[in-house]
Amino acid sequence: MNPVHLSASGLTRRFDTLVAVDDVSVDITRGSITGLIGPNGAGKSTLFDILAGELKADCGKVQFNGRTLQRHSADGAFRQGLARTFQIPQPFPEMTVLDNLMLAAPGQLGETFWAPVLRPSAIREQEQAHLERAREVLEFTTLDAVASNAARNLSGGQQKLLELARVLMGKPELILLDEPAAGVNPVLTALLLEKIHALNDNGMTFLIIEHNMDLVMRHCQPIVAMANAKIIFQGNATEACNCKELLDSYLGSTSGLGT
Ligand SMILES: Nc1ncnc2c1ncn2[C@@H]1O[C@H](COP(=O)(O)OP(=O)(O)OP(=O)(O)O)[C@@H](O)[C@H]1O
Ligand SMILES: [Mg+2]
Repeated sequence: MNPVHLSASGLTRRFDTLVAVDDVSVDITRGSITGLIGPNGAGKSTLFDILAGELKADCGKVQFNGRTLQRHSADGAFRQGLARTFQIPQPFPEMTVLDNLMLAAPGQLGETFWAPVLRPSAIREQEQAHLERAREVLEFTTLDAVASNAARNLSGGQQKLLELARVLMGKPELILLDEPAAGVNPVLTALLLEKIHALNDNGMTFLIIEHNMDLVMRHCQPIVAMANAKIIFQGNATEACNCKELLDSYLGSTSGLGT
């Protein structure tokens, strides 16, 4: 199996005159929990947007499992096993936690025009399968106790867990997590990390953007750093702490590098 799970080559993205991602090339190793760090505005979330197919790059390519993602779309990426969560959780706030999961299930037969007429039993079977999957995911993420609560009533930490739960509905191979611990209390952060490691032990690859340096240094290997739209460092935690260019990039930024 290809040891490189996800690969970006020469990705560039401009917003008018601002270059948010500048000729970024990086390989994400299969089975790793890779950390992506860098000061505010470095281009991390924009890189995620491109990798997940939400944003077109001006140039460069993304390969997943050795295949170039052509006409890259978020739906297409999700179906192929590449999922992402958002820096700011994006649930359907008025819907229950369970319904949020049911909606996140991929390939809903009921949405196709003729299926409800021609294949009603297939739709019922699929809904049953999605419900079973949702129950598994709820139990795994410990959200089962709040399954019938409206998503808007969850705490910040529970909303981050719901983000993870929603992408797990698609049984992804690789998850891009954008600041999973931001605003989350230490108990829920520990739970989230436990779940990430459990999934990783079963072969799931993670790329995690995080400003919590203690978390990154302890749980991510390797670490990749961006500053000013470019990759400026790749290596392990000790090397990161000794990288002058990386330390300098945080000086004067609001997201200081502390261990
Ligand atoms: N849709 C957009 N339109 C215009 N500029 C954008 C857009 N999205 C991002 N940017 C700009 O691109 C740069 C990179 O932003 P990005 O959100 O990728 O940074 P980041 O590394 O995720 O930062 P943070 O750590 O604060 O989340 C910033 O200067 C940002 O203002
Ligand atoms: Mg960001």
